Amino acid sequence: MSVTIKSQREIELMRESCRLLAIVHKELEEYVRPGISTLDIDAKGDALIRKLGCVPNFKNYNGYPASICVSVNDEVVHGIPNRHRILQEGDIVSLDAGLIYKGYHSDAARTHAVGRISPQAQKLIDVTRESFFAGVKMAKAGNHLFDISNAIDAYIKPYGYGIVRDLVGHGIGTSLHEDPQIPNFAQRRRGIRLQAGMTLAVEPMVNMGRADVEWLEDDWTVVTEDGSWSAHYENTILITDGEPEILTLY
Ligand code: MF3
Ligand code: CO
Repeated sequence: MSVTIKSQREIELMRESCRLLAIVHKELEEYVRPGISTLDIDAKGDALIRKLGCVPNFKNYNGYPASICVSVNDEVVHGIPNRHRILQEGDIVSLDAGLIYKGYHSDAARTHAVGRISPQAQKLIDVTRESFFAGVKMAKAGNHLFDISNAIDAYIKPYGYGIVRDLVGHGIGTSLHEDPQIPNFAQRRRGIRLQAGMTLAVEPMVNMGRADVEWLEDDWTVVTEDGSWSAHYENTILITDGEPEILTLY
């Protein structure tokens, strides 16, 4: 396992990559509404990324066929955009997007309401986002990696939601996925010691019901086994000697 420490120059490139991705997410958030297809979202996101002079890093990654992962309701992550899948009022939709700027990757996800949604669905979205911030509070040099995992788990536990275990966060830099892996549930060990200059994608995935997930026949779409709805929230962050920088916030 090799965790990269970014130089000052690399940190500047990561900051810019992430700043541009935040713009993409902002525009996609405003675009989401009932009546559009999940493929419309992919087309919009792909065009935005390229207009910014960047390359979508998900496209063709291990054969993934789109630029934006669009996951609706009981789909957890890696939903494949489809022109026949039309968003309906009351749905929740997770958008996972990433791009490459001058060789440096960024990665972030948001879950949005489609029109008016139930209070239960809104709570799931809110708690998932809040759990990210609870975890990231622990993300500083000198702390250990699994302090992040434990804090996310502890935040979610009182709500009784299922924390997805089969997919985890990750280091990020000149590759989309670098070491270390970052679980979103409590660990017995402490994990590596965090150092200034590490860039990490922290990404809790939370189900209203049980934690178990399965893969659809397309080999990409991850859905909850019990059909319960799921939310995802992710940012790329920079470890510093003080507070972490959340690089993909708008
Ligand atoms: N954002 C995802 C992650 O964190 C990557 C999407 S998988 C891809 O791992 F194949 F769509 F790229
Ligand atoms: Co990620």
